[in-house]
Amino acid sequence: MSPPLPLPPPRRRPPLADLLATNVTPLFFHLHLHLHHLLVLLLIIIVVGYAPRTARADCECGYLAAVHGGDSSNRRALFTDLLETDFARLAAGARDDDDHDDGDDDDAGPDASPIEGWARQAFNLTRERARGEYGELFAVENVGFVAAAAAKKGDAGLRLMVRAEIVDGMVPVAELDTQRLDLMWGTFRAMMKVSSVKGTCAAFFWYFNDTQEIDMEFLSKDFNASNGSYPVNLVLQSREAAAAGHDASGTGGGHFVRALLPFDPTGDFHEYRIDYLPGRVTFYADGEPLADMEGAAVPSSPGHLILQHWSNGNRYWSGGPPAEDASLLVSYVKAYFNSSTAQRRRDWEARCRDPTAPGAVCEIPDVAPGNWSAAADWFFADHANMTNNQTASGQSEEASSSSPSTEPSWSIIIIVCWLWLWLAAEFASAV
Ligand SMILES: *[C@@H]1O[C@H](CO)[C@@H](O)[C@H](O)[C@H]1NC(C)=O
Ligand SMILES: *[C@@H]1O[C@H](CO)[C@@H](O)[C@H](O)[C@H]1NC(C)=O
Ligand SMILES: *[C@@H]1O[C@H](CO)[C@@H](O)[C@H](O)[C@H]1NC(C)=O
Ligand SMILES: *[C@@H]1O[C@H](CO)[C@@H](O)[C@H](O)[C@H]1NC(C)=O
Ligand SMILES: *[C@@H]1O[C@H](CO)[C@@H](O)[C@H](O)[C@H]1NC(C)=O
Ligand SMILES: *[C@@H]1O[C@H](CO)[C@@H](O)[C@H](O)[C@H]1NC(C)=O
Ligand SMILES: *[C@@H]1O[C@H](CO)[C@@H](O)[C@H](O)[C@H]1NC(C)=O
Ligand SMILES: *[C@@H]1O[C@H](CO)[C@@H](O)[C@H](O)[C@H]1NC(C)=O
Repeated sequence: MSPPLPLPPPRRRPPLADLLATNVTPLFFHLHLHLHHLLVLLLIIIVVGYAPRTARADCECGYLAAVHGGDSSNRRALFTDLLETDFARLAAGARDDDDHDDGDDDDAGPDASPIEGWARQAFNLTRERARGEYGELFAVENVGFVAAAAAKKGDAGLRLMVRAEIVDGMVPVAELDTQRLDLMWGTFRAMMKVSSVKGTCAAFFWYFNDTQEIDMEFLSKDFNASNGSYPVNLVLQSREAAAAGHDASGTGGGHFVRALLPFDPTGDFHEYRIDYLPGRVTFYADGEPLADMEGAAVPSSPGHLILQHWSNGNRYWSGGPPAEDASLLVSYVKAYFNSSTAQRRRDWEARCRDPTAPGAVCEIPDVAPGNWSAAADWFFADHANMTNNQTASGQSEEASSSSPSTEPSWSIIIIVCWLWLWLAAEFASAV
């Protein structure tokens, strides 16, 4: 340390130009040189501090998906935001209350701990509102995780239950919604195993309101194992559909497609995917396109994602209620999308310094026939710095513990350096 200096008399702080001016005492001249050196050092510190961040650039400009183009050709779409939830991994960490159950080791534990980014729904629909033989009782306890026994059979994940027992004229059913409501264009993927118990509707959908909705609905009563027929209903709920009593099948225009799946959806997990783009919606199963939809019925609003498993006894749709409790299992949801909010757009602009930098844009791996697990097992959230300031849960510890940014500490260092220099200069000039 320098020898103690006498306290200078109080006075106005000189402007920086004066500090660096030439009319200084020999002592300050000596310090002046040092000041220059220190400034250069400071510049080096700033450059070194920021350079790796600029070059790191992991996915900070977004996620790139191969999507369907107008003429069924493939093109690419960029999405700025990510929401990934690995329910299977969350299930492994979930509380398992089997020991306290009545011996049914296949029962879901009543673990209702919060799922980051999602909200379990609780509401009741009368049979009139439900438009069925029964009302529907959406209860949080019907959204749980599979117990350890089922997980051992490879069924790890979220479980949405439809119960056989009627309560006050209602079928107990389940719904889980994303908390974010700002999904405006995106590619949404859910890995699910559908119940084979007849009389439920399993649904993965994007929703804004009753006339802006994109649905994939599985009606278990329509599955026929003996002839291998497994249909999925692909629906755009539009204004016309509302006019026709929410029967999109009656509206024509290709906004209702009953597609046959090339596999048994009750036998194993498969990835179901909805691409929601301006003027176009494409549905997929295991990476294979099932249907493309265009036109006025394609929504144009921000919305949210919903996982639902329900029954209301309406024999023209869900059928049921099921004769036994039925489970829809979901092992993950991966959503890559643009946000409708100005804040998230500003975040992206601040984050994305150079879209052409290596790694600034990340390709989304696609589940494809014959190349399945490489993409199915991929979570950006498992990799350090690939999901900075995004919505992810169920990722591995190392990835989640990576500090979001080194920026604050560098700014503090810079401010402290400046203060120190300023003070040193003041003391020196006062001598
Ligand atoms: C999403 O937002 C980014 C950044 O504004 C933009 O480049 C991209 O084209 C948008 N994607 C779609 C599908 O509109
Ligand atoms: C739904 O109905 C059940 C049975 O009548 C009742 O216990 C529950 O509180 C209701 N839930 C809501 C959210 O109103
Ligand atoms: C849904 O939102 C769209 C766009 O804001 C609006 O035109 C339509 O009337 C709404 N539908 C319902 C059922 O509220
Ligand atoms: C299989 O059975 C269903 C009825 O369960 C029927 O609608 C469908 O046409 C049948 N498919 C074949 C290929 O026979
Ligand atoms: C399932 O398909 C078989 C063979 O096509 C047919 O005989 C049977 O009636 C179908 N089952 C139902 C419930 O439609
Ligand atoms: C992260 O996102 C939040 C919510 O949009 C925003 O308030 C915050 O400024 C963002 N932080 C960074 C470092 O981009
Ligand atoms: C399989 O998918 C992964 C991830 O998308 C990709 O890196 C790899 O090249 C694919 N392999 C083949 C044979 O297509
Ligand atoms: C991720 O970020 C952390 C902290 O910002 C940094 O230490 C680390 O090197 C980065 N990892 C990679 C793979 O770039």
